[in-house]
Amino acid sequence: MIALVVVGTIVTAGALVQVGPLKSDTAAVDVPTWNDRIGPIIQARCVTCHSSGRSGPFSLATVDEVRNRATFLVEVIKAGRMPPWLPEGGEYRYQRTVPEAEIAAIQAWSSGGSPIGDGPPEILAPPPIESFRSDLVLEMPEPYSIPEESDPAWHSGEIDVHGVNLPLGNTVPLRVRAIRHVAAAPQSMRVAAFAFDVTGAGRYLDERDPRVGFLMGGDAGLRPVGADGLILTGSGDFRLPPGFHLPVEAGSDLLVQFQYQPTGKVERLQERVELEFALENEDSRAVRWIPLAVGRVEIDAEEVRTYESAGVVLEGAVDLVGLSPRAIEICTSLQVDAVLPSGVRRNLLTIPDWDHHQRESYVPVRPIRLPAGTRLVASFHLDNSSANPRNPDDPAAQVRRGRRTGILNVIAQVASVDPDLDADLASTGSRLSKELMRR
Ligand code: HEC
Repeated sequence: MIALVVVGTIVTAGALVQVGPLKSDTAAVDVPTWNDRIGPIIQARCVTCHSSGRSGPFSLATVDEVRNRATFLVEVIKAGRMPPWLPEGGEYRYQRTVPEAEIAAIQAWSSGGSPIGDGPPEILAPPPIESFRSDLVLEMPEPYSIPEESDPAWHSGEIDVHGVNLPLGNTVPLRVRAIRHVAAAPQSMRVAAFAFDVTGAGRYLDERDPRVGFLMGGDAGLRPVGADGLILTGSGDFRLPPGFHLPVEAGSDLLVQFQYQPTGKVERLQERVELEFALENEDSRAVRWIPLAVGRVEIDAEEVRTYESAGVVLEGAVDLVGLSPRAIEICTSLQVDAVLPSGVRRNLLTIPDWDHHQRESYVPVRPIRLPAGTRLVASFHLDNSSANPRNPDDPAAQVRRGRRTGILNVIAQVASVDPDLDADLASTGSRLSKELMRR
């Protein structure tokens, strides 16, 4: 009922505004107010990141901060640039989209003189962070400094990324249910990508590089970084649904690749990562990773083309609990489909406007059951023309890039329905990575 009344008010306000300019005191009758309607919208949708000490470049916690740039905010929301959220459709945890009615309310408020409503203007506090039990806290031993500006050679490889190896010191296997990243300088940090590693690959990279952590890569051998989740700074934790966990062998390290964005001044990053475990008596299934990957890209200047990963056929039924993408800058859109044994194609993820600074793991609200015989495939649309605003080369130049764990890759995080098939599923990821290298 309430929602209907509010929508009615907006339509009226919009119509009134068309007629001519209104004084804010008369408008207050029909126009939504900050205290009643606009404040709560901004609080729910924006303030988690746009308040002091958070990842957003400015605060939106007070009426003046919002009022002064309201037209710009509406523009950016309508263009889909904010809040950061890449998928179209689907039902995922942390889905950050702003309903039409809310956009219309902000617009009506702005053109109606941005009235405050009854009482003093509310100052918005970020919504409380979802509860998280820190069973294990991992912290970089020293800070790592990032430069004021990006390296000009960034298109020659992945740059603005930094790898860190965090030893867990666990003498027994662990069942990790959730990961949280506490950023030291949230405005410089974009994405954290995780991979648990028992091979010592992270330690080796760490020892070879004299700095704190190491440059680039960060794959644990055949296991791509991101196989155990991605977190977009400010968005919350990476949490599996109840009844699922990431299995971590005794003596493991956590490899983290931090993707940062220089802010114009040197920043010192001393990042903290926290782990929450499944409860001891909790029934829980292991989540395994399946790469839907393209190993190498060769694309001419001004060329536009679509790459498709090799299809992966599931030998047993699985529950899909996450999709974690990575792709180079000239990728403009990507999608993941499941071709069911019946031949029906089911879309699992569509990202119509890819931006590698805004990627994260997409966790379906309810695990998606996929039957045995399902074929999973990812496709990536690349636009290497000069007209692509995200093309780092201007004018466009030929791109030849490869990565043995996939230069384009969406990792499907899945758990076997039949426990007897779990061991086979556990080895699927590295088997597929090996095949990718041979191709
Ligand atoms: C998950 C964190 C997050 C949330 C939620 C979020 N923002 Fe942002 N916002 C950022 C970051 C980080 C940047 C700067 C980097 C960028 O532009 O991608 C930014 C930049 C912006 C900019 C400048 C964009 C530009 O193109 O210059 C505007 C305007 C903005 N946000 C408005 C909003 C509004 C309005 C909301 C709520 C409807 C919102 N943001 C929600 C993180 C967030």
